[in-house]
Amino acid sequence: MIIAIDGPAASGKGTLGKRLAAHYHFRHLDTGVIYRAVAKALLDARIDLGDEAAAVAAAMELDPEKFGDPVLKTQAVGDAASVVSAYPKVREALVTFQRQFAAEPPGAVLDGRDIGTVICPDADVKIFVVAAPEVRARRRTLEAKARGEVADEALVLADILRRDDRDKNRAVAPLKPAPDAHLLDNSHLDIEGGVRAAIAIVEAVRAGRQRV
Ligand code: DC
Repeated sequence: MIIAIDGPAASGKGTLGKRLAAHYHFRHLDTGVIYRAVAKALLDARIDLGDEAAAVAAAMELDPEKFGDPVLKTQAVGDAASVVSAYPKVREALVTFQRQFAAEPPGAVLDGRDIGTVICPDADVKIFVVAAPEVRARRRTLEAKARGEVADEALVLADILRRDDRDKNRAVAPLKPAPDAHLLDNSHLDIEGGVRAAIAIVEAVRAGRQRV
């Protein structure tokens, strides 16, 4: 079984993905980390983010062993990831890795922007997570502070809106729900409530119901 979870920055899809995977004993891939790793490679080498060829080369040399690096989670790397992920050839270079991950048993949960639309259009369950931008900014600020980073909520909100805009309006694989995705608005849910709602969606699809 493949579960695709898409949604905008800081919507909580990563946590949901991880929790769903644990619940069903599936493997989990946070695909944002892949684009973040490409961006970090450029930032580390002080290569301009506008250098598409360098971004493609970095995408082809990725080392999944390094996906756990906490630096990848920072706002600066996330913003840079939003830039390099708009390059069609960067996305192309990363398709096979993601599809192979999805296909391996016993099942997988992938979260990102284009999992239900491009990477796994045949996913068994597609969930599109949304939350009000202000709510996402509040959560992301608290997370950053918990990591010991300095974070200004107004700046975090501006970053989220800028990234949403870039991710939604790019020419290739823009952020948008697949026609058969189930919307999950977690603006007013805590983590446990979001997890319960996501499991209810998966179970309803499994039970063969069309509407949840
Ligand atoms: O989900 P995230 O914040 O870790 O993602 C970082 C950036 O990577 C995001 O702004 C857009 C890009 N991304 C993407 O284009 N496609 C994905 N499947 C996942 C992330």
